[in-house]
Amino acid sequence: MTKKLISLDVNGRRYDLWVAPSDLLLDVLHDELGLPEVRYGCGEGVCGTCTVQFDGHPVSACLMFAVQAEGHQVTTASALLGEGSGNGGELHPLQECMLRHGGAQCGFCTPGMLLTAERLAKRATRPSREEIRYELVGNLCRCTGYTKILDAVEEYVEGAERA
Ligand code: FES
Ligand code: FES
Repeated sequence: MTKKLISLDVNGRRYDLWVAPSDLLLDVLHDELGLPEVRYGCGEGVCGTCTVQFDGHPVSACLMFAVQAEGHQVTTASALLGEGSGNGGELHPLQECMLRHGGAQCGFCTPGMLLTAERLAKRATRPSREEIRYELVGNLCRCTGYTKILDAVEEYVEGAERA
């Protein structure tokens, strides 16, 4: 298949890459750019482990072709919350909430969960517990039973509102 040269803006950095039209954004981010926090789970847009922010909105990278990302900003959890985030090595307040409430166990779902929750906290109005639950419905977790995650996100959005 003929490859095409595209430019991707990922975590504020530009990458020029040769990709096939059928290459998934998930595979390019994980395999080509070496971003382990973008994870393959179901490959069908159901589990949310491949979540990235696409122009600031959470999307499933397994449902997008890499060529569709040209000209858009892609953000993964490492840029938003971890190393290279400009936090000086400090945990992001959302990570602190997750830690405090035990919202991450094996951690496989956590990057996607954090990206969805981070976006949610930027809404104009404070989301209710039910709205948080609804927004996170596309991010599955096999470990926590969700209550601890909801507690963590609820505390975070309250804090984000005060900030
Ligand atoms: S791997 Fe993309 S939603 Fe499951
Ligand atoms: S913490 Fe293990 S899948 Fe969510």
